[in-house]
Amino acid sequence: MKIVIGCDHAGFSIKKAVKEHILAKGYEVEDVGTYSADSCHYPLYAHAAAEKILSGECQLGILICGTGIGMSMAANKHPGIRAACCSDVFSARLTREHNDANMLCFGERVVGIGLALDLVDTFLGATYMNSGNHPIRVAMLSEIEKGSF
Ligand code: RB5
Repeated sequence: MKIVIGCDHAGFSIKKAVKEHILAKGYEVEDVGTYSADSCHYPLYAHAAAEKILSGECQLGILICGTGIGMSMAANKHPGIRAACCSDVFSARLTREHNDANMLCFGERVVGIGLALDLVDTFLGATYMNSGNHPIRVAMLSEIEKGSF
């Protein structure tokens, strides 16, 4: 599985740690930046990462900014992206299982490194429950995006 990872300046330190962590676990990683702690604009990196998912090059993504909120807002502007901003492991698991989230967002100013790595492990390790009401509801999200709901 190939994972795209991106951040702004406020998520730069944790992105480095997350990247090393998931590489060590055997995942392929595409790092779309930012590559320094210089101030930058989170939508640029959310967009670059979303494109990697939508093109099929990567299957899941991780976006980190100060709060995770700006990244999730920017990513969710892309039809087909289901980005979840999480700061607890229960939500990180359930958003894969129920919402088929394809991007995890969190904030370096919100979570510490230990929780960040737990969020990542939980999200990447969970599986979408593609049965019952879940696919119906996820399809509704697509219909809303298409304006045909
Ligand atoms: C940058 O200062 C900060 O606004 C950004 O990282 C993010 O938290 C926005 O949602």
